[in-house]
Amino acid sequence: MKFFVDTADVAEIRDLADAGLLDGVTTNPSLIAKSGRAFKEVIAEICKIVEGPVSAEVTALDFAGMIREGNDLRKIAKNVTVKVPLTIDGLKACKALRADGAMVNVTLCFSANQALLAAKAGASFISPFVGRLDDIHMEGMNLISEIRKIYDNYGFDTEILVASVRTANHIKQAALIGADVVTAPPAVLKGLAKHPLTDKGIEMFLADWKKTGQTIL
Ligand code: G3P
Repeated sequence: MKFFVDTADVAEIRDLADAGLLDGVTTNPSLIAKSGRAFKEVIAEICKIVEGPVSAEVTALDFAGMIREGNDLRKIAKNVTVKVPLTIDGLKACKALRADGAMVNVTLCFSANQALLAAKAGASFISPFVGRLDDIHMEGMNLISEIRKIYDNYGFDTEILVASVRTANHIKQAALIGADVVTAPPAVLKGLAKHPLTDKGIEMFLADWKKTGQTIL
C-alpha cells in the first residue's frame, strides 16, 4: 500500500520523506489556506521533495475552467496530479486530461456509484472520504470495501486512494481491504510507529544498559 501525506506543510513533508515514508502528497484548498502560502509556489516546492504524485486541486466548477486550471497546474512539475471534484464536469475534465496524458485524482467521493463513474472516466486515483462519512454516522470503510469489489469485478486500474483518514485504525482497515493508497495527516502517519510496549521496552533496555556501566562509542 502506498502512503501519501495529506498536507501542504513543507517541513512535515520533508520530515516524512527523509524517513522513506512518502510515495506522494495530496493537498486541497483548505490545506493550502492553512499553510498560508501561495498555491503554485508551495506545490512547486513539494514536487521537488517528493518524486511521486502530488495532487493539486482545481477550483473551477465548469469543464472549460477545470481544463484551463488543470493545464496550468500541470506546468509546475511532471508529478503534479490534477485533482477534480466528482461532478459531471469533473468527470469530463478527468477524461480529457487523462487523454492528454495527465494524472487525475477524482475527489470528494462518497458512494460506490460515484467511484464507478470515476473509473469509467479513466481516473488515475479515486478519493473516497472515509472520515467525513464516519462524521455523519456512516461506516466509511464499507465504502472502501465496495469500491475494491467493484473495481476488481471489472479490472478497473483506477487506484483507490483512501482520504479523510483520521486514525491509525483507518489505515489498518484500508490495508486489510486492499486499498491501493492512503493519504493521511502527518500526525496520523507518524502515529503508526507508536506503541506503549515499544516505549516501555526502550526504557527497560536503557535502564539495564546503564547498570553495565558501558558505552558503545
Ligand atoms: O484531502 C482530502 C481529505 O483527505 C480531507 O480530509 O479530514 O478534511 O475530511 P478531512
